[in-house]
Amino acid sequence: MPDTAPRPTETAATAPLLVAAAGGTPAHPPVWFMRQAGRSLPEYRKVREGIPMLQACFTPDLVCEITMQPVRRHGVDAAILFSDIVVPLVAAGIGVDIVPGTGPVVAEPVRTGAAVAALPELAPGQLDKVAEAVRLLRAELGATPLIGFAGAPFTLASYLIEGGPSRHHERTKALMHSDPRTWHALLGALATITATFLEVQVAAGVQVVQLFDSWAGALSERDYREFVLPHSSRVLGAVHGVPKIHFGVGTGELLPAMREAGADVVGVDWRLPLDVAVRRLTVRGRPAPVVQGNLDPALLLADFDAVDREVRRIVGEGRAAGGHIVNLGHGVLPNTDPDVLTRVSELVHSLTP
Ligand code: CP3
Repeated sequence: MPDTAPRPTETAATAPLLVAAAGGTPAHPPVWFMRQAGRSLPEYRKVREGIPMLQACFTPDLVCEITMQPVRRHGVDAAILFSDIVVPLVAAGIGVDIVPGTGPVVAEPVRTGAAVAALPELAPGQLDKVAEAVRLLRAELGATPLIGFAGAPFTLASYLIEGGPSRHHERTKALMHSDPRTWHALLGALATITATFLEVQVAAGVQVVQLFDSWAGALSERDYREFVLPHSSRVLGAVHGVPKIHFGVGTGELLPAMREAGADVVGVDWRLPLDVAVRRLTVRGRPAPVVQGNLDPALLLADFDAVDREVRRIVGEGRAAGGHIVNLGHGVLPNTDPDVLTRVSELVHSLTP
């Protein structure tokens, strides 16, 4: 009997997001939105009603449904697994909760060598629910790629040391400089946990990963290179067979170092035009850099004429790159009108890569 069924590997090879990530020219510019699943969608608020965030993250059917919602609604070029950067910490048994309107809150902040030594390890089996969600999603998604993700060691360390979200990361920076041994032990432990989280997702079927070092932009390049880069490098080095996106906010000065950490694609926030980012990232003798970004999420609340102009500008500036994945410069704001996201997705698809 002739084999006429579409082969997943063949469709995946032409998926615009994967073509762009590899530095090729896709059929149309690929687009997805950080935090595309979440409070901007009424269907999300409905299915989440009465279910705490972290409970939702360990319920495979619900993870699958929430992950699919923005794909169905906006026709984006990728799904991103519905989860959170603290999920591997929770799975390992570290006392972290997600408080609505605040973010991750840590029961006992980690600030000493003894606290670091007492951190539990993460066994892959503790992530079975996440792996199951990934398998359900691959069966639902067809040719649309699934992005897995993790928080980078620095961003996770900031939550663990500060005990919750922080504006100035002052305790984090104080520990880094006054007790480098404890610092490196903590980041080493977090790198191991993060690598396991990503490896489990890749083994279960995610086709791309994104490492979120959301708060790395708080650091000087010098401190980033000394205290953070080796650990993020170890995480990215542990992931094989899928393209790796490395993203942070306010990281204009860190972009080359973030690429050196082992990224195939570098995420850029809205502060830096993509053509300037590409110039900074260009290294003689290496392939042209591939970038992701970088529409200001607040702009989605402007008149659509303004949104239209900005999207066209960004796609134009992205042509300076080896490849460009259109996205926001940070996550969708909860009060964004979801119809605007749908219109942006359609607009991007109408443009020439
Ligand atoms: O992008 C996606 O659609 C996937 C979902 C996703 C979530 N968290 C779901 C979530 C992703 C990629 C994350 C990563 C994450 N979590 C980061 C890195 C990305 C970034 O934005 O820089 C960070 C720093 C966190 C920590 C965190 N978790 C924060 C700051 C918050 C918001 C707190 C609040 O209520 O304002 C969370 C909770 C969270 N994670 C929500 C969602 C949809 C909101 C919780 C809810 O809906 O009840």
